[in-house]
Order: sequence, then C-alpha cells, then structure tokens
Amino acid sequence: MTDALSPLRALQFFDSLPQELNAAWLDWLLLEDSMTRRFEQHCSQVTVRIVREAFVLQEECRDEAALLPPSERYWLREIILCGDDEPWLLGRTVVPESTLNGPELALQGLGNTPLGRYLFSSSSLTRDYIQIGCSEALWGRRSRLRLSDKPLMLTELFLPHSPLYREER
Ligand code: PHB
Repeated sequence: MTDALSPLRALQFFDSLPQELNAAWLDWLLLEDSMTRRFEQHCSQVTVRIVREAFVLQEECRDEAALLPPSERYWLREIILCGDDEPWLLGRTVVPESTLNGPELALQGLGNTPLGRYLFSSSSLTRDYIQIGCSEALWGRRSRLRLSDKPLMLTELFLPHSPLYREER
C-alpha cells in the first residue's frame, strides 16, 4: 500500500467551522465549483497523477463507508493533483458500487481526466455537506456529493505548495 495519501488519511474533521481560518482560506476550502478550474488560474497546466484506482472492500475505506450506503465493494480513486508538475492536492474518492450505473459509470474510467471535469459538467450534481479538516499544518475537506441522487465521498488535502497557502493568514 502506497503512503502518498497518508496526510489525507490523517485528516481530523471539525464539527463546525474552525475559528482560526481567515476569509481567503475559507474561500478555498468552501469552494463549490471545480478546484481544478481554480488551480488553473494559478498555473499554466493542471495534471492528475493516479496513485490508485481499484475496487476495494469496506475495510479499506471504513471512514467513508460509514457515511455511505452499505456496499460489498467501493470504487476507490486516489490521485495527486499537480500545478505545473508540483503536487498541490491529494484527492480520494470513494464511490459505492450502487452509484456506478448509467452515466455515473464514467467515474470508473476517468484515468488522467480530473474528476471535477466530470462532476461539474453534470447537471445532476448536489452536495449534502462539506466538512473542513486539518492534518498537522495542512488543510483539507470532505464532501458528500450526489450525482442523480446517488452518493459518493470526496476528500481533498491541500499540499504545502498549493496556492491556498500563498494567501495571507
Ligand atoms: C480527481 O481527479 O480525482 C480529483 C481532481 C480534483 C480534485 C479532487 C479529485 O480537487
């Protein structure tokens, strides 16, 4: 098992918005639109490095599975999002198998296409909630999203070179 995603797995989520967050950071963390598009405003090219794409059992995604309908298998996608080849964000998507039908089957075949390109082009996207978290000095967030009412969990961690940290504290 690779360790590239370990800071993301160490995220601790808050029940309410943490006080120490300034408006600029909150603006990044609560962004409802595509993070890929936001990153594109800060570099010339955003690319996806796949860490892992596979079906997994519940024990490999216990935290997310607790927030999703029970499923025998979950589609797991772990990526590093880079701005001009510099790692900016870790992303982990967990999709119960029951979500993977109809147009949502495309989630299984994303490869190097950023997830947001798919999600935000879908008119059926809704968000149940978002939780902000931190892992040492790094910020992240976890969202339960729905496509045509079918849920998935997306967790993202902003790496030290991410433009978020260039904003004033
Ligand atoms: C992904 O391609 O899995 C992805 C892209 C951008 C994000 C999160 C995940 O912000």
